[in-house]
Amino acid sequence: MGAGHDFKPRILGFLCNWCSYAGADLCGVSRHQYPANLRVIRVMCSGRVDLEFVLRAFANGKDGVFVGGCWLGECHYNTEGNYDALSMMHLVKKLLECVGLNPDRLRLESVSASEGFRYGEVVTDFTTKLKDMGPIGTGEGIEQKALKLKLEAIRKLIPYIKLVEREKLRVRFKDKSEYEAFFASDELNSLFNDMIADKLAISQIMVLLQDQALSSGEIADSLGMNSTEVSKHLNNSARKRLVRFDESQKRYALA
Ligand code: FES
Repeated sequence: MGAGHDFKPRILGFLCNWCSYAGADLCGVSRHQYPANLRVIRVMCSGRVDLEFVLRAFANGKDGVFVGGCWLGECHYNTEGNYDALSMMHLVKKLLECVGLNPDRLRLESVSASEGFRYGEVVTDFTTKLKDMGPIGTGEGIEQKALKLKLEAIRKLIPYIKLVEREKLRVRFKDKSEYEAFFASDELNSLFNDMIADKLAISQIMVLLQDQALSSGEIADSLGMNSTEVSKHLNNSARKRLVRFDESQKRYALA
């Protein structure tokens, strides 16, 4: 369902200096028309785009984030950073999905310096898709307060997520389809659930309880979570002395 013609998505683009940035330049010089919704940050390689940059962009209200890099095998550095960018993109998409945001708000594309027309095409397509999705949060039926809380919960976990990524998720495949298959595999999903999803749920509960003590039902309603899941996380957190149950209020509070 479209979000209306008036909505102008705010997009942050990270463009590799050697390919996509030059492609964007060529697009402009060639006078190809494309929407002006994207603000550009030039990076030396798409592999420089840290997941924290992307999540901060969403936390600052961007409706979409675009990463433009060299084609696989054509990165200008020995480290072949565009493979890392691909891996980062899949991980951030899973994090977005985990908090109820549309993972398609993040897009990575390969655009070479000679592909000015292609640059205009992919930016136009991304902008159109974001228009259909609607503003971040609102488009997913998440209130702005809850959205802020969810993104803050992810932000607090970033050092831990980076550690998991380095230890367990740093993979190198030959092409995009292999990354897609890996990140959609049962093995990866189970690892993600065990190591990240539960911690992310607890992080959301902790951020929510910073303001006030709440019952498990109120927490479940505020976060749009299943109440059994919330009770499980509260019990685990109480055992670790992260939260305590206030008998007088019949509510949970930070310990
Ligand atoms: Fe362009 Fe690495 S130099 S993606």
